[in-house]
Amino acid sequence: MKNTLIAPSVLAADFANLQRDIEMINNSDADWFHVDIMDGVFVPNISFGMPVLEAITKHAKKTIDVHLMIIDPDRYISTFKKLGTDVLTVHYEACTHLHRTLQAIKAEGMKAGVALNPHTSIDLLEDIIQDIDLVCIMSVNPGFGGQSFIENTYTKVKKLKALIKRKNASTLIEIDGGVTDKNARQLVDAGADVLVAGNFVFRAQNPIETIKDLKKIVD
Ligand code: DX5
Ligand code: ZN
Repeated sequence: MKNTLIAPSVLAADFANLQRDIEMINNSDADWFHVDIMDGVFVPNISFGMPVLEAITKHAKKTIDVHLMIIDPDRYISTFKKLGTDVLTVHYEACTHLHRTLQAIKAEGMKAGVALNPHTSIDLLEDIIQDIDLVCIMSVNPGFGGQSFIENTYTKVKKLKALIKRKNASTLIEIDGGVTDKNARQLVDAGADVLVAGNFVFRAQNPIETIKDLKKIVD
């Protein structure tokens, strides 16, 4: 039995009832809170910023997994630490000096993640994988929740799993975008360790039961 982690994406929560939705995740079988920060430049959408993250971390009782879809993330690393981030993920495509950025994240005491857009090859991680705590494979184009899953993701997960093994690294593989009960098992079989789920959880009739079912499917 493999302990696959489930990370509901707060982007799909009801922001007028944010505390209620955070408590729901606290009381569920979910493992992490996935928090999407978008700047309207790196991606064609703006989500929310520091005050909302602060409100989330004030109530959240589980690991805070922040996914930065912003240019120049180095400017905000220490701020994200102060706001309660445990895992800080930057985009490969947004970092000119990725090695330096990862070291800066770790120096703050956070786990360092790297997200890859659907078009970005796993091969590009060959010389950096040992420095990465988590690779987030985007299974949709980043910017919006509720999009449909890109099938090529399975191939990327397998390729990444092989790279991690070959380099003897302990990197976790996270999948983000369009995750449902239909693709969860196949993703885990391919090598996924963390599944992000936004709409599938929050649009469900009973989110607590949906998270429980997802956990059952992947274990
Ligand atoms: C997309 C975000 C995802 C999104 C997932 O840019 O990074 O985390 O919230 O939402 P669903 O599961 O609805 O695709
Ligand atoms: Zn995300």
